[in-house]
Amino acid sequence: PRYIWLSRHGESQYNLEGKIGGDADLSERGWKYAKKLPSLVETYIPNHEKLTVWTSTLKRTQQTGSYLPYPKKTWKALDELDAGVCDGMTYEEIAEKYPDDFKARDEDKFEYRYRGGESYRDVILRLEPIIMEMENQENVLIITHQAVLRCIYAYFMNVPQQQSPWMSIPLHTLIRLEPRAYETLVTRIKADI
Ligand code: G3H
Repeated sequence: PRYIWLSRHGESQYNLEGKIGGDADLSERGWKYAKKLPSLVETYIPNHEKLTVWTSTLKRTQQTGSYLPYPKKTWKALDELDAGVCDGMTYEEIAEKYPDDFKARDEDKFEYRYRGGESYRDVILRLEPIIMEMENQENVLIITHQAVLRCIYAYFMNVPQQQSPWMSIPLHTLIRLEPRAYETLVTRIKADI
């Protein structure tokens, strides 16, 4: 069978501070996940020569994959949803500084595009080449970001695009997708850290 493995980056310094976007390093806990990942992956992928690891260009995904002994590829198209002028802010700060935007996003999270940034719809469009390339891969582990993973997950689970913003993709959990003819089977492997 052919599997697609998905993981968020380990907890970052920004996650701890409740800030979105940025290019922060992993937290201490995030590094623990990075160190745990090789044994977690090995348990489930016996034939590991065939695995390729894809990350975004951001430090937190590359650090998360740094202990994995497989070929790696970095994709700009896997970078987190661009929050534009809100990059580096907390949701509280956004609500205070851009109340109308905060409300608009609440009303239509799929279509809402951050000022100078992206919407979920935009992310889905830029993921198209990635998804096409994924179809050609044997085993691929994609270490990327919450919003991006929600879109990839919704695609493979046959969930309507508009529901992508509400997919649950927890931290420190390896997700295995097994695409079948009429459905995709999912296994979630929680790292015990
Ligand atoms: O920084 C972006 C987050 O990963 C996406 O979260 O779309 O629920 O605000 P959100």
